[in-house]
Amino acid sequence: MVSLRDNPLRVGLQQERTPEPFVIVIFGASGDLTQRKLVPALYHLRQQRRLAPETAIIGFARRPWSHDYFREQMREGVERFSDGIGTEEEWQAFASSLYYCAGDMDNPTSYAALGDLVGQLDQERGIRGHHMYYLAVSPNFFPEAIQQLGAAGLLADTERARLVIEKPFGRDLASAQILNRVVQTACAEAQVYRIDHYLGKETVQNLLVFRFANAIFEPLWNRQFVDHVQITVAETVGVEDRAGYYESSGALRDMIQNHTLQLFCLTTMEPPSSLQADSIRNEKLKVLQATNLAARGQQLASAAVMAQYGPGWMRGKPVPGYRQEHNVNPESTTPTYVGMKLLVDSWRWQGVPFYLRSGKRLPKKVTEIAIQFRQVPLAIFPSVAQQASPNVLVLRIQPNEGIALRFEVKMPGPDMRSRSVDMDFQYGSTFGTSTADAYERLLLDCMLGDQTLFTRGDEVEEAWRVVTPALAAWEGPAGRVTVPQYEAGTWGPLEAELLMHNSGHRWRRP
Ligand code: BG6
Repeated sequence: MVSLRDNPLRVGLQQERTPEPFVIVIFGASGDLTQRKLVPALYHLRQQRRLAPETAIIGFARRPWSHDYFREQMREGVERFSDGIGTEEEWQAFASSLYYCAGDMDNPTSYAALGDLVGQLDQERGIRGHHMYYLAVSPNFFPEAIQQLGAAGLLADTERARLVIEKPFGRDLASAQILNRVVQTACAEAQVYRIDHYLGKETVQNLLVFRFANAIFEPLWNRQFVDHVQITVAETVGVEDRAGYYESSGALRDMIQNHTLQLFCLTTMEPPSSLQADSIRNEKLKVLQATNLAARGQQLASAAVMAQYGPGWMRGKPVPGYRQEHNVNPESTTPTYVGMKLLVDSWRWQGVPFYLRSGKRLPKKVTEIAIQFRQVPLAIFPSVAQQASPNVLVLRIQPNEGIALRFEVKMPGPDMRSRSVDMDFQYGSTFGTSTADAYERLLLDCMLGDQTLFTRGDEVEEAWRVVTPALAAWEGPAGRVTVPQYEAGTWGPLEAELLMHNSGHRWRRP
């Protein structure tokens, strides 16, 4: 076996790594993401001794908060959204590394003040120039913030200054291209970390290990053995209090273009030649370049369905429809569900349909990738063939993280009757520990300079290209006349069932 272990270039997906001390600046410090995810993740890293104690965190936002008020807000976040602060001593040590800088995103003076604070903390704490600028703000502010950071010279150090950009990266192909150009004028691609938090999930990373550290699956992983693949990212929640953002986004932009297509890429890409970030990202790009909606001619409905949840029931309680939610336009046409069929033009996948779906207010929160294999070629047990289900390999991303392989066995007894059974691996029972939060992993990787789990500029654009026909049809003049509805608490609209049915398949009920 050829091993890459001794290759000095081998980076990525390693364990037990501790980064250099950093100054981390979070734009959007008074927002939800900072309090709910980013600071709790950084605190947890500190508790695990994976964040250098010299590291300082600066919250940047418009509100005139003091350092102390920022610390109180972050404490509340850690208490509410993670395992809590642990000991008071631990928290106080962490809190003393939190700072706040009030400023306007479009005002050069604010960046000058921020630069001064960064420089001061760098000196006092011996940080040696490792600075991270994390844009956890509304996407409208991305171009302005990136330009201002560039103009203020804060991204000038191409080795040690890093820029982290939250999703969504653009709202269509054209805006993603423009944003990429803004990024390119301010810094080098090697400094850019575009977040897709699904890539930080343990089970998503396991897809690479499962596919490329086992010899027995790879020979089956192609059009000769795979009938079709279903990727489901289902949520039970509705729009919650995010209508302001969601109304202009919708399920295609919010979940499909990024998270679901990333799962698709890791499932379909060719084996990379190493674990280097660009080796993996090149393969993801290549498979996206070969991917298209499986529309027959102009008939987009045969390849993509979008819909909205109407009123319904969740866990025995009535819930409003999307159009009745707080701050949603009663005539909104924003889709909360997308189902689509993709085809990959490659030797490996020619003719194999990939069905992707994601929706809110579905009956279960579940993310899974189901590889359905072909039927047996010859039914030598006629009675068995009628009952037999094809083999299915299910990679359960969340919850109940694990992998299950479904196959047929003979039921005990004199008759030749078969039943499907599962061979089941569960993370929880095998490893005992709960999986780390995705943001912990991503923040750590950014500090370590490992871009493997971040999307590259060309990859993001290619993902937009794949969904563009669906977006254009939905948002074009003819698109939104009627918006298919589905009852909250059900598995989506009838149109999605038909999309599958017309191809001779059925959606799974995970
Ligand atoms: C976010 C979307 O990126 O992912 C949300 O904006 C969605 O709408 C969330 O609820 C789902 O993430 P997870 O990790 O809970 O599956």
